[in-house]
Amino acid sequence: MTEDKESVIRIFNFVYILTLVGTIIQLSEESKFAVDMSKIGLTRVPKDLPPETKVLDMSQNNISELHISDVSFLSGLKVLRLSHNRIWCLDFSIFKFNQDLEYLDLSHNQLQKISCHPIMSLKHLDLSFNDFEVLPICKEFGNLTQLDFLGLSATKLQQLDLLPIAHLHLSYILLDLEGYYVKENGTESLQILNTKTLHLVFHPNSLFSVQVNISVNSLGCLQLTNIKLNDDNCEVFIKFLLELIREPTLLNFTLNHVETTWKCLVRVFQFLWPKPVEYLNIYNLTIVKSIDEEDFTYSETALKALKIEHITNRVFIFSQQALYTVFSEMNIMMLTISDTPFIHMVCPQAPSTFKFLNFTQNVFTDSIFQNCSTLVRLEILILQKNELKDLFKIGFMTKNMPSLEILDVSCNSLEYDGHDGNCPWVGSIVVLNLSSNILTDSVFRCLPPRVKVLDLHNNRIRSIPKQIMKLESLQELNLAFNSLTDLPGCGTFSRLSVLIIDYNSISNPSADFSQSCQNIRSIKAGNNPFQCTCELREFIRSIGQVSSDVVEGWPDSYKCDYPESYKGTQLKDFHVSQLSCNTALLIVTIVVTVLVLAVTVTILCIYLDLPWYLRMVCQWTQTRRRARNVPLEELQRTLQFHAFISYSEHDSAWVKNELVPCLEKEDIRICLHERNFVAGKSIVENIINCIEKSYKSIFVLSPNFVQSEWCHYELYFAHHNLFHEGSNNLILILLEPIPQNSIPSKYHKLRALMTQRTYLEWPKEKSKRGLFWANIRAAFNMKLALVTENNDVKT
Ligand SMILES: *[C@@H]1O[C@H](CO)[C@@H](O)[C@H](O)[C@H]1NC(C)=O
Repeated sequence: MTEDKESVIRIFNFVYILTLVGTIIQLSEESKFAVDMSKIGLTRVPKDLPPETKVLDMSQNNISELHISDVSFLSGLKVLRLSHNRIWCLDFSIFKFNQDLEYLDLSHNQLQKISCHPIMSLKHLDLSFNDFEVLPICKEFGNLTQLDFLGLSATKLQQLDLLPIAHLHLSYILLDLEGYYVKENGTESLQILNTKTLHLVFHPNSLFSVQVNISVNSLGCLQLTNIKLNDDNCEVFIKFLLELIREPTLLNFTLNHVETTWKCLVRVFQFLWPKPVEYLNIYNLTIVKSIDEEDFTYSETALKALKIEHITNRVFIFSQQALYTVFSEMNIMMLTISDTPFIHMVCPQAPSTFKFLNFTQNVFTDSIFQNCSTLVRLEILILQKNELKDLFKIGFMTKNMPSLEILDVSCNSLEYDGHDGNCPWVGSIVVLNLSSNILTDSVFRCLPPRVKVLDLHNNRIRSIPKQIMKLESLQELNLAFNSLTDLPGCGTFSRLSVLIIDYNSISNPSADFSQSCQNIRSIKAGNNPFQCTCELREFIRSIGQVSSDVVEGWPDSYKCDYPESYKGTQLKDFHVSQLSCNTALLIVTIVVTVLVLAVTVTILCIYLDLPWYLRMVCQWTQTRRRARNVPLEELQRTLQFHAFISYSEHDSAWVKNELVPCLEKEDIRICLHERNFVAGKSIVENIINCIEKSYKSIFVLSPNFVQSEWCHYELYFAHHNLFHEGSNNLILILLEPIPQNSIPSKYHKLRALMTQRTYLEWPKEKSKRGLFWANIRAAFNMKLALVTENNDVKT
């Protein structure tokens, strides 16, 4: 891993420019003092700049001149960007009042001449891409002890041009030689004493022809941009490199925008092979003319990593083998070939030194490294963004890679049809990236047994099959952007500690997840279409129990999707009552209520004859309503009878022969239903009518009476008579004794009256009958004015 650390350090040196950008980012806390006036067509510096301005961007305008009055009042100015303007002349003394100026970018102007003045605070000075003939170095620059970055341009070079700054410890020199022209009188030379990074930019469209001996002390990183090579000038380039690459400190070599023949490229590789360079990067490579088989001697090399990104191949007919073999046989540890039209890579002939292979974004197919048993040291293989299709073949490919730990085959078109039997994965794989493929549920039958980190996001998985091989080492599982409808249990992944399952179709996650997945440290399940119904409560509760750093994105990305009324509500704010959720409880509640009601009704019916009373109450209220419309006085005036007699048909003989004659003898007017009833009215109405028109009601009680339902009605109505509530108006005659228990319990009124013994008994003995009649007469001792004329009544 020390190589990795070193590489990190080198990359830091190499991207020194980024640290400068970092400085700018630091300044961004003062961003309120930043003024952006780029790309607005300025022809001169505006006069109305805020004097507290610290960062001033006036790049990409048409400014041609800069005067002391333009900037002198900006005493706090730290950063001034003036690149891509038309400035042709500059006197550095105009910045003499800008004591804090650290960053001055004057690149891409038309400067030919500068007048010097030391700006002591300068750290970054960019004068590249201007029209200087010789390097614009004045002796005052030697005082810029803070200087870190220096950008220059020139059309010709002289050995001691940079002498005034030779003692400075620069990090980065950018030297633009776009306008450099070759002199006839032989080679020039330039001595650069100290810089960590040297970046040379040549003319983009001319064949490489620069013949300068540039020597640098302790150079760590060399970058060359715009190199156009063919078979003829290849040696010119090699010769140019010769002096530069000599230093043992030069570990990083980067070429940008290279156009070359295959032959020359291989020549450059061959030249670099015994050199101290450890990291070789080529960005934007174009291969022209032809690709033929080239001899290459893989001597011992310091090179650790070759990275080629973005290749354009202008050669259409060539031997693929000739191209690929040069790379596949390289005795280096790390090889990156990405963003190329390469369709294949051949298997190394002998056990290879590769530990790291990155073939991102090519057009490799499933045939890659099939039956290849020489990649024995390979630890990391990246085949992202290729044309891989069959997962089984990928598993098969790894079979002979005993050291393989990390495999990235994301962004392909991988599928697994499951018909090929067991997938022959090598057991050493611990990280497998299968994301962005078209894998379905069956993928779980084709996984390396000891995988620890498995990325399956953005596939077409709907569920995790129950019967799968146990993945006992699996710690991290990414299933985001699939179509899963539930959280997986951890039965088959007993060690799972990180689960990412956002952006699926989970509407009702099962709550037992937290029980089955004991080792979970982090779960990310947001952005699912949660159905906010009762079932979800358990899940919300179980989520609420674990701490919030375990549940990633809680609560913001956990929202209800359904029902419509809860859409967009965060799960943490979703509450429903216990009763409406617990069906059993709800059913029990309803059943109990119904039962209680039914029992009550039954009891009322059985013991109190509820229906009978209901019918009665109904009739009575109707009558009352009718009566309410008639004023009380008038009603009283309608009393037509002294008495209404209620009796059972079976007792009619006694009533007609004994009672009625006796009463009528006393001038007591009687309402008898068979005599006074109005045809056309209902029986009940007639009864009520009769009762209401009578002062008192006489009831002839006997076992026959008890049996008659009508008699009970009459008793009921009489008892509830409109004018004289209570039993005052009732006269009960007990014709024959009624055994107490023969009265049905529903006639509790009669029972009550019977127990009160407020009745007159019809004596069997003749002698007692005098008293009986006297009693009856006494009950009518009140004189009543009765209405005589009534059409309804037959007298
Ligand atoms: C898998 O690859 C994708 C891109 O192809 C990347 O975004 C993701 O982070 C990788 N997963 C892992 C676990 O490295």
